[in-house]
Amino acid sequence: MMDVGRHPNIKLLTYSTVEKITGYVGNFQVQVKKKAKYVNETECTACGDCTEVCPVFVPDEFQQGLSSRRAIYIPFPQAVPSSFLIDMENCLGTNPIACGKCADKCDKKCIDYDARDEILEFKVGTVIVATGMDVFDPTVLDEYGYTKYENVITSMEYERLLSAGGPSDGHFIRPTDRKRPKTVGFIQCVGSRCEKLGKPYCSNICCMNTIKDTLLLKDHYPDIEAKVFYIDIRAFGKGFEDLYKRSKEAGVQYIRGIPGEIIEDPSTHNLKVMVEDTTANKMEEYEFDMMVLSVGVTPRFDMPEVQQLLTLSKTPDGFFMEAHPKLKPVDAPTTGVYFAGCAEAPKDVKDSVTQASAAAARAETLLSAGKVKLEAITSSVNTDLCRFCGMCSKVCPYNAFTVDPKKKTIRYVEALCKGCGTCGAECRFGAITMNHFTDEQIITQIDTHLAEKAQEKVIVFACNWCSYAGADTCGGARLQYPPNQRLIRTMCSGRVHEKFVLHAFKKGAPMVVVSGCHYVDCHYIDANRWTQKRVEKLWDKLEKWDIRPERLLLEWISAAEGKRFAKTMQDIEELRKKVTKEEIEHTVKVLTEEEEKEKAKKEKQKKK
Ligand code: FES
Repeated sequence: MMDVGRHPNIKLLTYSTVEKITGYVGNFQVQVKKKAKYVNETECTACGDCTEVCPVFVPDEFQQGLSSRRAIYIPFPQAVPSSFLIDMENCLGTNPIACGKCADKCDKKCIDYDARDEILEFKVGTVIVATGMDVFDPTVLDEYGYTKYENVITSMEYERLLSAGGPSDGHFIRPTDRKRPKTVGFIQCVGSRCEKLGKPYCSNICCMNTIKDTLLLKDHYPDIEAKVFYIDIRAFGKGFEDLYKRSKEAGVQYIRGIPGEIIEDPSTHNLKVMVEDTTANKMEEYEFDMMVLSVGVTPRFDMPEVQQLLTLSKTPDGFFMEAHPKLKPVDAPTTGVYFAGCAEAPKDVKDSVTQASAAAARAETLLSAGKVKLEAITSSVNTDLCRFCGMCSKVCPYNAFTVDPKKKTIRYVEALCKGCGTCGAECRFGAITMNHFTDEQIITQIDTHLAEKAQEKVIVFACNWCSYAGADTCGGARLQYPPNQRLIRTMCSGRVHEKFVLHAFKKGAPMVVVSGCHYVDCHYIDANRWTQKRVEKLWDKLEKWDIRPERLLLEWISAAEGKRFAKTMQDIEELRKKVTKEEIEHTVKVLTEEEEKEKAKKEKQKKK
C-alpha cells in the first residue's frame, strides 16, 4: 500500500465513498465524496501528541473492540497515508464544550474543526471493483453463546489477541480472568456451508486460517492443548497440505464433527461441548478454557449500492457475478468493469492478488488499445418508429437507453448494449431491432419448423447461456430427448417476444416452451425477470381466449443440467400428446381472428 500511496500515477483516495458513476467503457464519470478528516493529512507527521491528550475513549474497531482508541486516531498501524483523523461523532470538539486539546497540542496546526466533506469528479476509462467482504457475525447462533460467554471469541478476535500489536501486546489471555488458557477449541464453518443461514458456500479461507492460527499458538505456547472441530479440511492450495500436516505434528488434534452447543460452567467460566466424532463414530464431551469460532465471510454490507452504481448482478450467494465463470472470471457483465478479491467470491490473499493482477491487466489492455470493439449482437433503434414511451430504458439491464418522453428524445449508447434483446421484445412499436436475432429471422425459424406436421412439434425458445447450453450438455452426455422438439436459440430468454409465442401457436404448435437461466443466474443481470412477467401476461391472454395456458411453459434450466433438460423435454412430450386436434384448430382460429383485429385497429389508427 505504501508503494500505491507514493506512485506518481496513482491517486489514492482514502476515507472516501463513490457517490455516482455514469457513462460507459472508456468514458465513466465518477463522483467521489472525500470525507473530512479534520486533520491536514499532508502536514500531519503522525507524531501522536494529539491522541495522547484526547480525553475521549471509544472501542477500537481495528482491535475488534477489545481495547479502546481516542477520538483522534490512526485507523490501524499500517494505514496509508499515516496521518490522524478525527471521529467527529465522538469528538467533543470546540462547541458547545470547549475541548480543543488536540488543536492546542499540535505544533504544526494540522487540526481544522471546520473542514468539510469534498466532492471530487473525474473521468476514468475502466473501473475495478475491489470492495472486499465482511466477516460473519456469530451472535445470531445462540447455540455458541457468542457475546453471552466472554471466553467464546471469533477467529478475528483471536488474531488480535495473539498479535504483538494487539490489545494484550501479544500475550494470549482469556477474557474472563486474563490468564493464559490451557485448552483452546476451534469450531470450523461458523457461518459457512449453512443453508439455514442463507450461506451455503464455503468461505474458502477459514480452514487455512485456523491451521495458521494453531501453528502460531503452538509456536508461542507449545503447552496449550488445541483441538479443531471440522466438517472437512479444505487444504487445496500450494503448500497448504504441508501446513496442515505441520499443525497435526505440532500436536493439534483434528476432530471430524461440529459441536451442537457450547455450555459455560458459571463457576470456572470453562466451556463444555458435546460432539459426535464421525471418524470414531462416538459421542464425546470436551472442556475448554476458550473456544474460537472460525467465522466465514459474507458479502459487504454496501454491495447493493455498488451494484446499483455499476449495474452489476449478483450470484445467489450474494457476491458479484462475473461475465463468465470460466472464460471471463474477472470481467463484470458491464464492459470496462472488472473484479478483484472477495467482491466476486470468498478468496484468500493469493487468489485475491492473482485476480487483482488479472483485472489490472484486463483494464490496461482495454485502455492501451484506445478503442473498444463492440459485439455484433447489439440492438439498433429506428427513431422514426419510436414513440418515446421509455419502455426500453426501463427494461435495459445496462441503462443503454435514455428516453425523455416530454422532449421526445431517445439516446442509445451502443457501447453499453450487451445484446440480451429484452428491449426488442418489449418495444410495442417495432422500433428496436436486435441484430442477428431479428423478428424476421426468428419468425422464419418458427415457420420452417412448423411447415410440416406442426401438431407433432414443440417449439422451445432456449437462451444461449443456460438452456441451449443445457441441451448441449444433454447431447454431450448422450441423453435422449424427443426428436420432435425444435430449439430456437436467443441470447437471453428476455428476447422472446410475445408475438413469437403467439405465432408458433397460430402456426399449429401444440406446445411452446420458453426456457432460460435460473432466475438469479441470467447472464444479462436480471433480464429474465421480464421474461417471467411477459409469460405471465401471456398465460392470462391465453386463458381469456379459451386456450389452455398449460400449453405455454416457462422452464429455468442451467448449462450444467443436461439430465434435467432431457427429463423436462420428455415430460413436455407427454403433455404434447394430450393436446387435441380440436384445441389446436381452436387456437389457430382465435389467433388468426385476433391478428385480423389487430391489423384493422392499426389501419384505423393510420388513417386518423
Ligand atoms: Fe439466460 Fe438471460 S441469459 S435467461
